[in-house]
Amino acid sequence: MLSLKVPLKEAEKWKKYLVETKNFNNKYRFKKDDSFIYFPILRRFEVLRGDISFVDMSFEESKNSGDLKTNLINFLSKEELSILKASHDIIGTIAILEIPKELEHKEKFIAETLLRINKNIKTVLKKADAHEGVFRTQKMKYLAGINTTETLYKENNVSLLVDVEKVYFSIRLSNERKRIAGLVKPGEDILVMFSGAAPYPVVLSKNTPAKHILGIEINPDGHKYGLENIKINKCKNVELICGDVHVIVPELNNKNIRYDRIIMPLPKTADEFLDDALMLSKKSTVIHFYDFLEESNFDEAKIKISEACKRNNRDYRIINIVKCGQHAPRVFRICVDFEIIN
Ligand SMILES: C[S@@+](CC[C@H](N)C(=O)[O-])C[C@H]1O[C@@H](n2cnc3c(N)ncnc32)[C@H](O)[C@@H]1O
Repeated sequence: MLSLKVPLKEAEKWKKYLVETKNFNNKYRFKKDDSFIYFPILRRFEVLRGDISFVDMSFEESKNSGDLKTNLINFLSKEELSILKASHDIIGTIAILEIPKELEHKEKFIAETLLRINKNIKTVLKKADAHEGVFRTQKMKYLAGINTTETLYKENNVSLLVDVEKVYFSIRLSNERKRIAGLVKPGEDILVMFSGAAPYPVVLSKNTPAKHILGIEINPDGHKYGLENIKINKCKNVELICGDVHVIVPELNNKNIRYDRIIMPLPKTADEFLDDALMLSKKSTVIHFYDFLEESNFDEAKIKISEACKRNNRDYRIINIVKCGQHAPRVFRICVDFEIIN
């Protein structure tokens, strides 16, 4: 196979040149010795330096043959490459792409390329809409591979079966789930409002000494996957209710049930449920309140908490404000941890 032999110290410069001129053959792994690097290339071109030469040699096939953009260099124009998002979510064996309108006519080809270069991906979908409605679900369009929206995903020592179209699920929250798990003390009773496919309940069950975890989810599909995930992970201390938090909370209150920790992962409208959280709080309950805010407006979350506590005659203290993701340019997903002190 044809290769370009260049001095090792100039490797980066030449690799960039080969990629930009669409000469780099990234199906194969480059080789090097003490002084030179050998890049597999697609064709000869004019070289005016004596220390750079073309050599015929064999190369190993690359297992992970580069990123998506590099693999599309020969098939998309410079402008098209510049608008293609380099990153994509991979949930289990499903990759979810965001394809700009201008590239829709090439979306199948892009998806098939991704399938070819990443052997762990079995299905490629694209986001066909934003997260919508009460269930916060997102429409997907099938692009390549096995036609499914269901996959098994692993994080924080658990396996989660999810349908990426029927239920809200974000892998970007796995660190946040780990953070919350790190705060749980032995014997806690925990309420997870808006539990979805139960990632919080299952992660807390398998990674903390909590006594009991209750999840409430209004989406019947989310509830169904939640029940499945309890089974898959053999969780003994998780209970899930399918219903509206506004309806279930007063029922729990009638039974005088109180929680040590309440998690509110519904950033768009969690403030509408603060009264419910306070209803099931006792002295020293810790509440995790999520919101989407620009950095300059983080105080708005504190105001929502302050007003709700005032309405409900409760004293509280803010423990922490944590940035746990980026929602949009300059807009963060934040979590305010606060404790009820009276
Ligand atoms: C942003 S998702 C979070 C899901 C899950 N906790 C996770 O982290 O993957 C919010 C969830 O709240 C549910 N939801 C919305 N309003 C609700 C309500 N009034 N009562 C119970 N669940 C609700 C939605 O169906 C959705 O699954």
